Amino acid sequence: MLVRKVKIVRIAVFASHGGSDLQAIMDGCREKKIRGEVVVVISNNGDSLALKRAEKEGIDRFHISEETEGGKEALTERLLSVLDAYRPDMIFLAGYMKLLDPRILERYRDRVFNIHPALLPKYGGRGMYDMKVHTAVLEAGEKETGVTIHRVNAVYDSGEIIAQAKVPVLPGDTPESLRERVLEREHLFLVEILSEIADGKIRLGETAL
Ligand code: GRF
Repeated sequence: MLVRKVKIVRIAVFASHGGSDLQAIMDGCREKKIRGEVVVVISNNGDSLALKRAEKEGIDRFHISEETEGGKEALTERLLSVLDAYRPDMIFLAGYMKLLDPRILERYRDRVFNIHPALLPKYGGRGMYDMKVHTAVLEAGEKETGVTIHRVNAVYDSGEIIAQAKVPVLPGDTPESLRERVLEREHLFLVEILSEIADGKIRLGETAL
């Protein structure tokens, strides 16, 4: 009998804080909405809820930071060795607050993605994260905002945009209410787009790993 092997995309997730995006990815994989598997979770924050969520799902997880490793160079070495051990097909930055070293981006070229809670190129870049984004959107009087998933390069929020979803700004919105509405959209959008990546509809890097 011929058994056709279905390729399951191996995903490494990096997250610094709450990990609700990570949760959406893990749920999407478990519920088979994404033909993928979260093989490892890495956080620079040992107290992050993201690590606890990974533990609860029984997924291998690591707290790795400049502090735990004793410097930038050692951090990159450790990240590369953990990644090598888990052989991910892609890396997803789900609320990861650090830039990845160019050596990691080179090794995983076109295989590293980030999610940003606004319609890039607006409201992105260094220092533009979380509430700062939503406050800026409201202050500018925007009628809509949204979610962007993009490839990661060496500059914050500036890699190739692969998908965007719009979210309305409603009268009376506060940065908190806007954050909540955008985050809700993120959770659905992540599953949609990761499933397209896993199905080969959105290209993953061709460099051999
Ligand atoms: C999200 O808003 C995401 O767009 C941004 O960081 C936030 C992560 O939220 N990159 P959570 O930690 O997954 O709840």
